[in-house]
Amino acid sequence: MSRMERVCLVGGSGFVGRHIAERLAARGVQVVIPTRNRERAKPDLIVLPGVELVGADVNDPAVLARLVNGCDAVVNLVGLLHESRTGDFRRAHVVLTEQCIEACRQQGVGRYLHMSALGAGTDAPSEYQRTKGEAEQRVAAAQAAGLATTVFRPSVIFGDGDSFLTLFARLLALSPFVPLGSPGARFQPVWVEDVADAFIASLERPETIGQSYDLVGPDVFTLEQLVRLVGRVTGHERPVIGLPDGLSRLQALLFGLLPVKLITYDNYLSMTVDNVSSAPWPPVFGRAPSALEPIARQYLGNATPRGRYMAFRYRAGR
Ligand SMILES: NC(=O)c1ccc[n+]([C@@H]2O[C@H](COP(=O)([O-])OP(=O)(O)OC[C@H]3O[C@@H](n4cnc5c(N)ncnc54)[C@H](OP(=O)(O)O)[C@@H]3O)[C@@H](O)[C@H]2O)c1
Repeated sequence: MSRMERVCLVGGSGFVGRHIAERLAARGVQVVIPTRNRERAKPDLIVLPGVELVGADVNDPAVLARLVNGCDAVVNLVGLLHESRTGDFRRAHVVLTEQCIEACRQQGVGRYLHMSALGAGTDAPSEYQRTKGEAEQRVAAAQAAGLATTVFRPSVIFGDGDSFLTLFARLLALSPFVPLGSPGARFQPVWVEDVADAFIASLERPETIGQSYDLVGPDVFTLEQLVRLVGRVTGHERPVIGLPDGLSRLQALLFGLLPVKLITYDNYLSMTVDNVSSAPWPPVFGRAPSALEPIARQYLGNATPRGRYMAFRYRAGR
């Protein structure tokens, strides 16, 4: 594969995108990152050499076409965990994927990397997973039509700046106990740095073309085990009260009505199936994936200056 000189990270202003952008910038690749909220994305990204952070709405096909023009690859990281209005999942996952593929075709971009999610499938229980599954079908059709694609299906991703473990760290810091819905839901968390390595390797290695990869860490945890682990590493061990299924469902329904979404009914549905994979870490991506606890201890715990700073930020709600 010829060397990548310019890459567009659609959805690159978020948690995973920032880690991929750092690696690309370190390799001297020019990186285009569109965002609908440039001010929010600026602090982390603007300092990276070779990164162009562009205030733009990629939902407009003409805007997207201009952004990908001259790029060697498009990486689509757009994803939503919570829908504000019905149709948001379809728009962000399916329609935008179609538009990215079409923009690649129009502008002669030959390489497309697609971020899906473990559990994605058109017959999956949640709308998040079904629309991610539909998007995978669009990518498979594009591959058959000649676009060089690679699909990534991670379990929950952890690391500095994540929302999953960080959310629990915030809850544990504030609450004397945790009534936890879906406590037995199983995950195989994968480190964001391992995910970013996989994307970079894929941009550099032609044997990844046409492949779909499950990305999972070495260990399986139930949700309750994860919450207890976060309590341990942050020094906020609290009683965790696992709710039975009926109450988990009710909690998700009620929380889904709140303006700030901790969990929705769709999230509850996605947790009714295990988010784990027996697929080994693909050797093409290099070293084995990292274990969660030592890393969580570093970025969530209070043991290091960074951890103390993070703890301060949690308390300040920032
Ligand atoms: N984090 C995880 O645990 C996890 C696990 C499995 C799969 N994934 C997938 O990995 C991808 C990246 O996740 P992340 O955690 O980095 O997400 P994130 O931090 O929320 O970032 C998502 C990005 O998508 C863009 N976006 C969202 N909705 C959009 C829309 N309707 N139109 C245009 N842009 C939109 C946002 O751009 P703006 O700057 O314009 O808002 C943002 O940059 C997603 O596809 C997600 O489904 C994540």
